[in-house]
Amino acid sequence: MYLCKIFQKPDFDMKTVQLLDKKFVLSISEKEIRNAINAIAKQINTDLKGKNPLFVGILNGSFMFAADLMKRVTITSEITFIKVASYTDTQSTGIVKELLGLECDVKNRPIVIVEDIVDSGLTMKKIIEQLRAKGAEEIYVSTLLLKPDALRFKVPLDYVAIRIPNEFIVGYGLDYNGYGRNLRNIYTLVQE
Ligand code: IMP
Ligand code: MG
Repeated sequence: MYLCKIFQKPDFDMKTVQLLDKKFVLSISEKEIRNAINAIAKQINTDLKGKNPLFVGILNGSFMFAADLMKRVTITSEITFIKVASYTDTQSTGIVKELLGLECDVKNRPIVIVEDIVDSGLTMKKIIEQLRAKGAEEIYVSTLLLKPDALRFKVPLDYVAIRIPNEFIVGYGLDYNGYGRNLRNIYTLVQE
């Protein structure tokens, strides 16, 4: 007898999500994210061809972006990761802690920082200072997201995939107190 199995498809694309005490609503789809990453990867492949860049992913937030970006980078290159933290709850603390240091030599080669989001720009400013102190000279910044209205520090922004309003978001690597990083779309905080 033929047994018909009923598979229930998980709902990866729910319109709203609840994380701890906060509610978030879908704002940027997986498809939009993919298209935006394709565009910057293309630009990086053109601009840095033959220059053997070292990509430096910033953990934890950039893990999904770094993976998807690197799948589209076709030029000779390496990737490494460092870990920093500056956010608690939905606010930046203003202090950038280095939790995991750099293992690769950054001298004499272009560095491409791979970040999830540039908000005030403080984290990026500090990371650039740390890389310069280690001897990096040619530094480029690639970020999945930029909040132009929140920017307070002058930092280079070479490859920006998506610009967003000054609102708190989660998903695609970004978290609210540790939760929501696994979401494949991006969700915006619903203000009560
Ligand atoms: P900045 O130092 O103010 O530019 O903040 C950058 C860091 O704060 C990012 O690397 C993120 O980890 C975190 N961050 C900024 N905005 C958001 C957000 O809307 N959701 C989640 N994390 C954020
Ligand atoms: Mg980050």
